Amino acid sequence: MALRTIRTEGDPVLEKICKPVKDITPRISQLIDDMLETMHDAGGVGLAAPQVGVLRRIAVIDVSEDGTDPVVLINPEIIEQSGEQTGDEGCLSVPGVAGKVTRPETVKVRTFDKDLNEVILDAEGLKARAFCHEIDHLDGKLYTRLVEGELHEVSYEDDEEEE
Ligand code: NI
Repeated sequence: MALRTIRTEGDPVLEKICKPVKDITPRISQLIDDMLETMHDAGGVGLAAPQVGVLRRIAVIDVSEDGTDPVVLINPEIIEQSGEQTGDEGCLSVPGVAGKVTRPETVKVRTFDKDLNEVILDAEGLKARAFCHEIDHLDGKLYTRLVEGELHEVSYEDDEEEE
């Protein structure tokens, strides 16, 4: 496994629409392992492939405090959503700031796992927010375009969740 460089806002790769994954090649498996390691190393709760410069529909999420709940999403799609939550959101590609974003409170996602088996995942709260945020990355959308009001600075000590 290896850490990958996280691309930051302004890099055109973050604004492109990613292509679906058709096969799990050794290269894709390596990418997934590296993304998990990079996300955990950076203290984020999610990371999408374009954030490490790869235009494929792959994202990883882990909303646990201790890195014990990794979820791999391949070609994910939100198929149902309900409710609403408004709260601070951040992104590893937009370091040092957060902003208020409204997302669904619950989502149902159809996705494929790391072996390309189709699975349906239900999520609520922070996990639902992370799913929405990461799936937006796969369509070239950063959360900053959804922020209500101003972005505000966060310091590492604030323990803000970055996605
Ligand atoms: Ni992000």
